Amino acid sequence: MPEPKNPAAIYVTRPELPSLPEFIPYLQEIWDSKVLTNGGQFHHQFEQNLCDYLGVKHIALFTNATIGLVTALQALRITGEVITTPYSFVATAHSLLWNGIKPVFVDIDPVTLNLDPGKIEAAITPQTTAIMPVHCYGHPCDVERIQAIADTYGLKVIYDAAHAFGVQCHCGSVLNHGDLSVLSFHATKVFTTFEGGAIVCPDEKTRQRINYLKNFGFADEVTVVAPGINGKMSEFNAALGLLQLRGIDQALAKRRAIDERYRARLAALAGIRCLPPAGEMRSNHAYFPVLIQPEYPLSRDALYQKFRDHNIHARRYFYPLISDFPMYRGLPSAAHNNLPVARTVAQQVLCLPIYPGLSHDQVDRVLDLLGA
Ligand SMILES: Cc1ncc(COP(=O)(O)O)c(C=O)c1O
Repeated sequence: MPEPKNPAAIYVTRPELPSLPEFIPYLQEIWDSKVLTNGGQFHHQFEQNLCDYLGVKHIALFTNATIGLVTALQALRITGEVITTPYSFVATAHSLLWNGIKPVFVDIDPVTLNLDPGKIEAAITPQTTAIMPVHCYGHPCDVERIQAIADTYGLKVIYDAAHAFGVQCHCGSVLNHGDLSVLSFHATKVFTTFEGGAIVCPDEKTRQRINYLKNFGFADEVTVVAPGINGKMSEFNAALGLLQLRGIDQALAKRRAIDERYRARLAALAGIRCLPPAGEMRSNHAYFPVLIQPEYPLSRDALYQKFRDHNIHARRYFYPLISDFPMYRGLPSAAHNNLPVARTVAQQVLCLPIYPGLSHDQVDRVLDLLGA
């Protein structure tokens, strides 16, 4: 069927929200209680319900993941150099710079697009104190090999788990790996509270310290134990989070159906490579990245433009590489020949639209343009 002249825009993602009438009673409670922030009843309840849903023991809610990452590094007193991936959103490396830490970029695995564990050891120096990998697109890192390296060299591991809400690997939640994991609930994420985030902690003592740090360092009314920041989640966001948890399984199921529809038709299309799952037992289908190979008739950027011309807003996550931005490109680890896989993938990747409200017809519109 010919496409209508001005087809409605399709974005790479759109937030899934509860109906407004469902949220009003929560707002009414906030208005009645006048407790707006600083750990109110919705904050407490949301932390509990999140732990249950995700299968983790301790959670500290945050205003966003970036402040969560900055605070996670402070909580573990990370200094010197931290090994991380260039193939991520800039906030990963920015959290290091905000702590005066030097990022050391290590290349990614060509299949999972996560930090390549085989290349980590060569980047360790006497200044290295931690590894900050990213579960990119919600695909689990090789958590066991990374932990083995960390144990051998006495390093901490902080996962940027901004994409990994609800992801399960062979031993339960992927968020239980490493010393800390940081989630994002930003509007573009699988699970959103408008803005928001959380740190998953191994024990109550660590959570307590993180709670001091996210509240200016206050341990009680008159005691400040660290130069903390304001990272607290408000009651509004926490209440929304509680409501969002009710719909999350249905939202993930809709994402799965879209993922399957893409894969079914793309399997036979030469020059388009889909990413395989990375060993997860449950995926969250946060993104649908494809890699445009040389045999595809269009370059990645020409395809990106073709989509835009048809009002489809696919995104080139993650291009440019973090290591190419001005504040990073002078680092020795940002050198061209140090990151060959990440460089190639950043030139090939295109994330196709995926979100619960995307109709089958819209998915087919994307596929038709690809020539599938
Ligand atoms: C990998 C990654 N890390 C960190 C962030 C920052 O999250 P936030 O927007 O919640 O600060 C994002 C996305 O926004 C992300 O994609």
